[in-house]
Amino acid sequence: MNICFVAIVLFGLVLTCTSDKKCVTQVNFTYHVWIGDDVDTQYEINLTAPSGSHFIDAMFQAAGLDQNFAFDFIQYDFGKFITTIAGVSNNEATSQFWMIYNLPFVPNTGNPPGDEYLSPVGVDLIEVQDGYHYLFWYRTVDLSTHT
Ligand SMILES: *[C@@H]1O[C@H](CO)[C@@H](O)[C@H](O)[C@H]1NC(C)=O
Ligand SMILES: *[C@@H]1O[C@H](CO)[C@@H](O)[C@H](O)[C@H]1NC(C)=O
Repeated sequence: MNICFVAIVLFGLVLTCTSDKKCVTQVNFTYHVWIGDDVDTQYEINLTAPSGSHFIDAMFQAAGLDQNFAFDFIQYDFGKFITTIAGVSNNEATSQFWMIYNLPFVPNTGNPPGDEYLSPVGVDLIEVQDGYHYLFWYRTVDLSTHT
């Protein structure tokens, strides 16, 4: 497929146009929340956002639509660090943390995504992609293998 990426910035929207002149300004994606290593609780919400917007915007959108997605964060110079989602907070004592995964497929609790799908960037920098699944999973993290 011959995709020409047209960098037209219209009120902050990036238009992506294919050769048949179809311009996509909205993307559809799903935000999933899993709580616990065995995923005792899970929430999901389907969202639509302008292409080029960031996952943090989707988090605010989700929180406004459904209080299960309510969250807290600490603002650092590098961006927002998520501390709490759905009333559940990072816990250094038990080494349980919120970890964000960028997935090109539907996550399956029976075969959860591996660390290779962890987002390399923070929520402010993740650009939402059409058809993607963003998973915030509250799980035990072996800090010796994570930096
Ligand atoms: C997103 O979903 C809406 C409503 O289901 C649909 O009309 C639209 O075509 C979808 N957009 C993309 C880019 O798939
Ligand atoms: C989100 O969309 C998918 C695919 O259309 C659907 O299977 C799922 O039930 C939807 N989830 C919610 C919470 O609406």
